[in-house]
Amino acid sequence: RPEQLQTDVLVVGTGPMGATTALALATYGVRVHVVNRFNWTANTPRAHITNQRAVEVLRDLGVEKEARLEATPWEWMGDTLFTTSLAGPEIARLRTWGTGDDRISDYLQGSPCTMLDLPQDKMEPLLVKNAAARGAVFSFNTEYLRHEQDSEGVTVFLQDRTTGREYQVRARYLIGADGARSKVMDDAGLQVEGQLARAATAYVFFKADLSRYVAHRPSILYWIVTSNAAFGEIGMGLLRAINPWDEWIAGWGFDMGQGEPDFSPEEIKRKVRLLVGDPNLEFEVKSTSVWYVNQAHAPIYSKGRVFCGGDAVHRHPPSSGLGSNTCMQDAFNLAWKLAFVVKGYAGERLLDSYTLERAPVGAQIVARANQSRVDYAPLNRCFRDADAAEPVEAGLQKLADPGPEGLARRAALAGALKVKNYEFNAQGVELNQRCVSAAVIPDADAAEEVWKRDPQLHVQATTRPGAKLPHAWLVGADGRRVSTLDLVGKGRFTLLTGIAGRAWVEAAATMARPYLRTLIVGTPGALDSYCSWQELREVDEAGAILVRPDGVVAWRQHAAASHVDAAKVALERALAALL
Ligand code: FDA
Repeated sequence: RPEQLQTDVLVVGTGPMGATTALALATYGVRVHVVNRFNWTANTPRAHITNQRAVEVLRDLGVEKEARLEATPWEWMGDTLFTTSLAGPEIARLRTWGTGDDRISDYLQGSPCTMLDLPQDKMEPLLVKNAAARGAVFSFNTEYLRHEQDSEGVTVFLQDRTTGREYQVRARYLIGADGARSKVMDDAGLQVEGQLARAATAYVFFKADLSRYVAHRPSILYWIVTSNAAFGEIGMGLLRAINPWDEWIAGWGFDMGQGEPDFSPEEIKRKVRLLVGDPNLEFEVKSTSVWYVNQAHAPIYSKGRVFCGGDAVHRHPPSSGLGSNTCMQDAFNLAWKLAFVVKGYAGERLLDSYTLERAPVGAQIVARANQSRVDYAPLNRCFRDADAAEPVEAGLQKLADPGPEGLARRAALAGALKVKNYEFNAQGVELNQRCVSAAVIPDADAAEEVWKRDPQLHVQATTRPGAKLPHAWLVGADGRRVSTLDLVGKGRFTLLTGIAGRAWVEAAATMARPYLRTLIVGTPGALDSYCSWQELREVDEAGAILVRPDGVVAWRQHAAASHVDAAKVALERALAALL
């Protein structure tokens, strides 16, 4: 008889999607078994930009502080340079990731979490370690081979790569978090639409203390514009700070038609020295890698008991830094739903909302990340003179020209930099998702949402069902500030009301659902001392807002319930529809 193990959820992959899913499920008390074909987590820095929504996920799962200890802080992320080399004349700068004077308050108002920069080879171990400490089972050196599903569960065929032994795990659900070459997707018959490997980029991870060039203008990204190298689709080379300021990645596009990039020691030395602008720079190469520019997403994320997420379902370049962030948010969306079904709080149809809510986000971020690459063209036009023998030298001379040509170029540069805000200051792209599915009950009394500012650039706080609960600072039990987001989530629904909303609170108390807490803003532990929640809540103080475990508003009532029984009927009806 084949050997069979039992678990509730089997996850393939310990990348941002798999590790976050594991951490969330373990936190919620669900049995989860995670496999990874390799000996350990990511062996290169890969994704690093961690946006506010992803940090909110870390915060809810209780690992934000630990992540901050390892991360490059927000303040050092954003004086992004366009320069001829680190040592050479710089051309332009852009304040990025909300660190600019014009955007900083938007970012502070939008979330209790600032962005941070945490390379994947530090993020993954942190997630895995905490998931394991909370009970998740990890099997490294274990390859997913295939699966078979039936009405009761999924049989997953695995191979221990250290011994070659094949065995099976029986799980209620299988999660394909196995990245951009997902076999789980293929085996489940799920497909991505779009174009794969449109262009290619070479990365060299190296060690050298470059603080003399950058410590006074800290940024995690430095774009290099020079005539002395071809840089592929973006037209610029990249120096990316991994560990300020002595670990770096040098990146450049290369022509895929010519095969693999030249990673010979001589060529690496030439390229890195050119980008840094120091012909004598000595440095240690830690690794080299190649990645391809994809533009593809899956319209459907699940088949029966198999759910896929992360790069398995959205494949795109790192521009805009949306990759691992979106993976972590896929995981956060899916994990509470699985937990509710496994625990018997919800019917299996709740799981249908995963594709409905996340596939539009996947499509959006794939388009956004690819557009961000295209949007380097206007900058390049300002920096170059395509017909000249030395295009950048000639272009920069024109940029500095006192006559009409220079004037026009400088005006164009201001415009081209503004376009890059859609890559580097796109707080709306990161936080404005609206969930539409049966796991959200639309507000029949509300007119269609009107965006007051550009929805890609600016977050719009709202308690409309489908949106993330707005962040407001309250005063907590110990007199310290506490965010509205801190008082919801953690695996449970929250019924949020004000001091005048007693009927809702009493109704919830009589229902005694294990997955439902109440929060009365205005009472000790949640004082609206700054009166900012009043401004944001969009419902009467005696109204109610029901928040899902992932912080998304599921339902709201503008006014007081007439009495406790009416509140109970309304709340029961809402929960029954949602779950
Ligand atoms: P991921 O690919 O990370 O993990 C897949 C997992 O599945 C691995 O653990 C793998 O071993 C395992 N696996 C696969 N097949 C298996 C099998 N058959 N059996 C067992 N295990 C199997 N994103 C971002 O948000 N900000 C950024 O700044 C960047 N920057 C960036 C730079 C570069 C160079 C790259 C290549 C990518 C980025 N990204 C990014 C994107 C980011 O790295 C990417 O989106 C995530 O790693 C995807 O996470 P997943 O968990 O979906 O898959």
